[in-house]
Amino acid sequence: MDNSFLLVSSMILGLVLACGIFVPQADATRAFFVFGDSLVDSGNNNYLVTTARADAPPYGIDFPTHRPTGEHLGLEPTLPYLSPHLVGKKLLVGANFASAGIGILNDTGFQFLNIIRIYEQFKLFKHYQLRLRAHIGEEAAQRLVNQALVLITVGGNDFVNNYYLVPYSARSRQFSLPDYVRYLISEYKNILTRLYQLGARRVLVTGTGPMGCAPAELAMRSPSGQCSIELQRAAALYNPQLVQMLSQLNREIGANAFVAANAYRMNMDFITNPQAYGFITSQVACCGQGPYNGLGLCTMASSLCPNRDQYAFWDPFHPSEKANRIIVRQIMTGTAEYMSPMNLSSIMELDSWT
Ligand SMILES: *[C@@H]1O[C@H](CO)[C@@H](O)[C@H](O)[C@H]1NC(C)=O
Ligand SMILES: *[C@@H]1O[C@H](CO)[C@@H](O)[C@H](O)[C@H]1NC(C)=O
Repeated sequence: MDNSFLLVSSMILGLVLACGIFVPQADATRAFFVFGDSLVDSGNNNYLVTTARADAPPYGIDFPTHRPTGEHLGLEPTLPYLSPHLVGKKLLVGANFASAGIGILNDTGFQFLNIIRIYEQFKLFKHYQLRLRAHIGEEAAQRLVNQALVLITVGGNDFVNNYYLVPYSARSRQFSLPDYVRYLISEYKNILTRLYQLGARRVLVTGTGPMGCAPAELAMRSPSGQCSIELQRAAALYNPQLVQMLSQLNREIGANAFVAANAYRMNMDFITNPQAYGFITSQVACCGQGPYNGLGLCTMASSLCPNRDQYAFWDPFHPSEKANRIIVRQIMTGTAEYMSPMNLSSIMELDSWT
């Protein structure tokens, strides 16, 4: 399963704050658009009749505490596109099109009803642009979209909820892992090309995290508590090819439109050495049930840890809010091992001159 508010609240807010901090001029606030899966879905699925949603408690338990920070800086969080509140001036802030459960491939997440697949998200983005144009005119709308910061997070579900969904899945009989990874990368290149055609010019692209280390995978595959070798192998094959594909795309475009965030490395830092980051564990989720709290969903009936900040994972699949703050910090200021060709603060600095 696949849903969380927490990543959203911290990761998205962290990046929104970053935009505000680095672009302080009142009229130059940068719009922010988000595409992808549950790692960044701030609630579109709550407006759909779907089995992949995160609006039941205790999801969102931390959400209200974020608002004052954003409001303090005069910033509004990016709203889910399907929110009825996304109208008028709020359109200028940007929008979040992400939907839990989706993947690079159209058939990833087939077990969930009514999710917004990536090309559907792009259709909504086109629709958004029409609404924006009606509001501020064609030229200003184009400029807002071209100058926006875009985040896309997708790919993890193509492994967890497709290739490795069940043993001997149809996909794993159709493709060897290396062939599957090549197929995903070539489909992802089409997706990013489409996003560029739709006007995106600064796009943060996150690789997959260490999927084999999530409490869900420990519970299902690894009684010893070691990260699942198969899923780690998938991430190790996929992530470097993603970085290569992005730099090839940038060469074809002739600009650094796409920026790779090494989510694998960012997560591995605190997974291999949780204590150094103030966590008591990186294996047990804060909210869940069964071994490692890794089974099922986080619900009112789950065991919930007393202090979320001591856990690297919030639920069986998703990093905790504190873990996400660590990730956002690396996106902002990380070295070339974490961000290529550059970190977000370098990008903000570059873009403030143009
Ligand atoms: C996925 O769907 C989109 C839009 O319907 C289509 O253009 C694309 O070719 C499909 N991808 C695959 C791999 O079938
Ligand atoms: C960002 O990346 C650049 C280039 O890799 C590096 O020199 C710099 O120290 C990093 N951090 C910040 C805050 O810019």
